[in-house]
Amino acid sequence: MTTTTVAAATEYVVQLRRISKRFGGVHALREVDLELRRGEIMGIVGDNGAGKSTLMKILSGAYVADEGEIWVNGRKVRIRNPQDSARLGIAMIYQDLALFNNFDVTKNIFIGRELTRGPMGLVLDKKRMYRETQELIRELKVDIKSPRQNVASMSGGQRQMVACARAIAFKSTILIMDEPTAALGVTEANKLLGLIRNLADKGISILLITQRIPDVLAIADRVFVLKGGERQGVLDVGKVTLDDVVTLIVRGKDRAGEAPGDVMYKSFG
Ligand SMILES: Nc1ncnc2c1ncn2[C@@H]1O[C@H](COP(=O)(O)OP(=O)(O)O)[C@@H](O)[C@H]1O
Ligand SMILES: [Mg+2]
Repeated sequence: MTTTTVAAATEYVVQLRRISKRFGGVHALREVDLELRRGEIMGIVGDNGAGKSTLMKILSGAYVADEGEIWVNGRKVRIRNPQDSARLGIAMIYQDLALFNNFDVTKNIFIGRELTRGPMGLVLDKKRMYRETQELIRELKVDIKSPRQNVASMSGGQRQMVACARAIAFKSTILIMDEPTAALGVTEANKLLGLIRNLADKGISILLITQRIPDVLAIADRVFVLKGGERQGVLDVGKVTLDDVVTLIVRGKDRAGEAPGDVMYKSFG
């Protein structure tokens, strides 16, 4: 490998190459390429059934692609299950979050990998876990009052924030979020979007599936458009309008340049 190709390969934290996936007769994804940079927020958009969740589930190890390659930090990797993905620093945050309702924030963040102390490491180091959670809350500017707050009493947005904090505590550097703001009110959604932007500014790379295009335009760096399981294009948020994005979602790359009205005419013609 020449120096040039190494540099080119490591410019991206994630590269999906020619990813295809079928479910029976349904071609959910067709030779999809995606490149994600460090510290970037990439919006993943497209109509229902476009393949957004399937593509992200392949990266998170929930599904295995039929064809294609996954590269993480310039290396070709195999992701056969969620554990493989987690080991590579990838975390997927689902809308129906798996938090433990009877536990506080700290327990939810450290569950499964509790900090211990003592010569044999047999004593739970609760003090340190609460302190680290407090630091995480402050550092991420998470809208949660105390590391001792029970998650059962939290709003949907706060719960998403706990899930993000947990991922960061686990040293995840690539976060995937599937419709995180779908069930949230405007204020809550904006707070969560603010946290996502903070994370990106700290160097975390984020793949954000959403139907809310204005959300993407507010915080993302680029928008990846899928339609019918195919990549339609990747748009720089600073260079496009809401209309441009919607046009690409609805018409696809081959018809996006046509004059308004043509689509209706042609689809009935
Ligand atoms: N587990 C599955 N079994 C069968 N078909 C599926 C499954 N998951 C997704 N699909 C199909 O694959 C296509 C893409 O779905 P999906 O990735 O969920 O789209 P999106 O998230 O963009 O709405 C759809 O036609 C959907 O019905
Ligand atoms: Mg989906």
